[in-house]
Amino acid sequence: MVLLPTRGHGPLTLAPNVEVERLGFGTWAWGNKLLWGYDEAADPVLEAAFRRAVAGAPLVDRRRFFFDTGDSYGTGAREGRAESLLGRFRREARARRRVAIGTKLAVYPWRLRGEDFEDACRASLRRMGESRMELVQAHWSAANFQPWQEPALWDGLARCYEAGLAGAVGTSNFGPKQLRKANAHWASRGVPHSANQAQLHVQLSLLSTLPLESGLLEASSELGVTPIGYSPLALGLLSGKYDADSVPAGPRGVLFRQLAPGLAPLLDTLREVSRARGKSVSQVAINWVMCQGAVVIVGIRTPEQAADNLGALGWRLSKAEQDALTEEARRVPKKATQNIFQTA
Ligand SMILES: NC(=O)c1ccc[n+]([C@@H]2O[C@H](COP(=O)([O-])OP(=O)(O)OC[C@H]3O[C@@H](n4cnc5c(N)ncnc54)[C@H](OP(=O)(O)O)[C@@H]3O)[C@@H](O)[C@H]2O)c1
Repeated sequence: MVLLPTRGHGPLTLAPNVEVERLGFGTWAWGNKLLWGYDEAADPVLEAAFRRAVAGAPLVDRRRFFFDTGDSYGTGAREGRAESLLGRFRREARARRRVAIGTKLAVYPWRLRGEDFEDACRASLRRMGESRMELVQAHWSAANFQPWQEPALWDGLARCYEAGLAGAVGTSNFGPKQLRKANAHWASRGVPHSANQAQLHVQLSLLSTLPLESGLLEASSELGVTPIGYSPLALGLLSGKYDADSVPAGPRGVLFRQLAPGLAPLLDTLREVSRARGKSVSQVAINWVMCQGAVVIVGIRTPEQAADNLGALGWRLSKAEQDALTEEARRVPKKATQNIFQTA
């Protein structure tokens, strides 16, 4: 077992009595075919990635690594595939003490009653082979699309907690305004609302800086909600391994081709810091997000990626390095596309 030092980036609270490392992992690619080209044949590699990540977990007190999943990570015949895989991997690796799982319930327009979200949570648990999860989250708010659905969503998550299905509730893609409203509802019912999954990944944070500028981090801190930053590598682009001439297949490639040319100076700065620090470009990009005070969740598909990303723990970029990266990112001409589900 590898014991990692965590100097400079202490653990954060995910749910009552659940402390997690600032580095967590994401499973969007473990079921999604359209964007990520998921293929069942690669499941053993995903399992190896999971095991490699878990091997790096320091078994200190109750601290664990957070693994993020969602009931829409895999649809149709692959419904909730990522949840099934994650539940199986954790069980088979006997890693319950080291891995905290949080799923996100899709706010499908037909989930109109609180009971519908409770049923969805029970279905997620069945897929995971569990009776309880550490965290259940709203994948997005209904406010932008079907505002009348929002009370059912808040009620549904509260029900999941009250029925003992989840240790806490969380929100994803909620802006500060919506976050405060949901938090007030849950507070009135005594439901712990401990994580707000906000888009804080480096590309977005540095290029559009929304979570830094919208007041979301201040609202999170005021409400005692732990921010979770997703897509810290901008879907892989900030790992430095892609450029305009070498992009992955599919829709990610189309996006990367648009963004890559303007990113060159930022990638140069990432590489400079990476060389000076003896860290990989991905580790620097991830560490920058950690420095914003969030738990970072990075998508992993191979044990090598898991091992590399673990190296983002145990050290901290200096203020000057952070500022240099932020400054360079501000100059990038094409900003990241906002998640359409993000609310005010
Ligand atoms: N709440 C939401 O609405 C929402 C939205 C998006 C994501 N998320 C969550 O956040 C998680 C992470 O975000 P993400 O997966 O979208 O993007 P990401 O973490 O920015 O990028 C992940 C991809 O980067 C590449 N990669 C990872 N580590 C690497 C390394 N060390 N070196 C080189 N390449 C590396 C891999 O792809 P390749 O090998 O194919 O390049 C990997 O699949 C998701 O899995 C999901 O759980 C949530």
